[in-house]
Amino acid sequence: MPGFPLEPGATIGILGGGQLGRMLTVAATELGFDIAVLTPRENAPDARVAAYAITAAYTDEAALRELADLCDVVTFEFENVPADALEFLAGLGCPIAPGPKALASTQDRVAEKTFLNALGIETVAFAQVDGPDDIGPALERLGAPALLKTRREGYDGKGQRWISTAAEGAAAFAELGGKPAILEARAEFVREVSIIAARGHGEQLAFYPVGENRHADGILKTTVAPAPEWERVQDRAEAIAAAILEDLDYVGVLGVELFELADGRLLVNEIAPRVHNTGHWTQDGAVCDQFEQHIRAVAGWPLGATQPLVAIEMENLLGQEVETWPDIAADPYARLHLYGKGEARPGRKMGHVNRLRPLPD
Ligand SMILES: Nc1ncnc2c1ncn2[C@@H]1O[C@H](COP(=O)(O)OP(=O)(O)O)[C@@H](O)[C@H]1O
Ligand SMILES: [Mg+2]
Repeated sequence: MPGFPLEPGATIGILGGGQLGRMLTVAATELGFDIAVLTPRENAPDARVAAYAITAAYTDEAALRELADLCDVVTFEFENVPADALEFLAGLGCPIAPGPKALASTQDRVAEKTFLNALGIETVAFAQVDGPDDIGPALERLGAPALLKTRREGYDGKGQRWISTAAEGAAAFAELGGKPAILEARAEFVREVSIIAARGHGEQLAFYPVGENRHADGILKTTVAPAPEWERVQDRAEAIAAAILEDLDYVGVLGVELFELADGRLLVNEIAPRVHNTGHWTQDGAVCDQFEQHIRAVAGWPLGATQPLVAIEMENLLGQEVETWPDIAADPYARLHLYGKGEARPGRKMGHVNRLRPLPD
């Protein structure tokens, strides 16, 4: 196995089959690397652009062995990869970045908030909900309404219900499949922002300017970056991200979702141990985008510059919205990114557009 930095021509493995893996694959290919994707999905968006694609369950040991044989380092584009898969790869001597601790601290919403609070990072107040009987006392403490979420595997607002009474809570718990859950106090945020950060080999850190995010039905709709008045929150957002990266001895790109409160406090909503949808603006707005940055980090290369070149309004194309592509293509300052997904189901992320705007003074 070659050492780091990896040389062009080396192969990087990606666990996961989605658009994040696809954009990582394109970025890695630009630097002369080959990508090997392992995904359980047939015809996955990233498998179609990668040099090697292995279609198998994440727990398929023969497939993991094949991946380890091909690759000089393995990363993931999806934090719900089973921890056992990473352990198996690590047992084969395969370098993994970010490491298994990053996955363990972010796969479960209770573990994630407990981890953050232990670092002195504020989150909303929360309660662990193992069964419907836990909900009444938790609501009493957290106040109503509160948000019931499954502890694991939620994304794009899936697996979440607002509740105001214990009876509503019991019904919602059953609707969410009776799985271990978390009840969260409502964050009275004035806006949602996020910071995309990176840590390389040799503890090098890099931070992009904070972006401002708008969600609809729990799904990200737009990011404006740099966020209006980003200087107000930038230093504190960087300090939060740095504490997380350092504690996890992290290598790669990390996304940190934040609630900005009326009194100016920042609470962490959640962290993503991977490239992040709110960092897509960097593809057309920053010197080195988050995808190349992640590849540089895991390959042991120096990190790239995070400076914004223009302001960007990133808009996700959800479901049928992707059909507006001809209008977007007709605007020369709209940079279109499509994921090559077949069926445009409602709410499904089909692509995004980065609209270029002048940088604020
Ligand atoms: N405790 C909360 N208070 C208020 N809004 C919340 C809370 N938790 C989540 N939300 C809203 O729902 C969105 C999605 O929730 P999040 O926890 O980020 O789940 P996902 O993993 O699906 O992104 C957030 O971006 C925010 O708009
Ligand atoms: Mg989120």
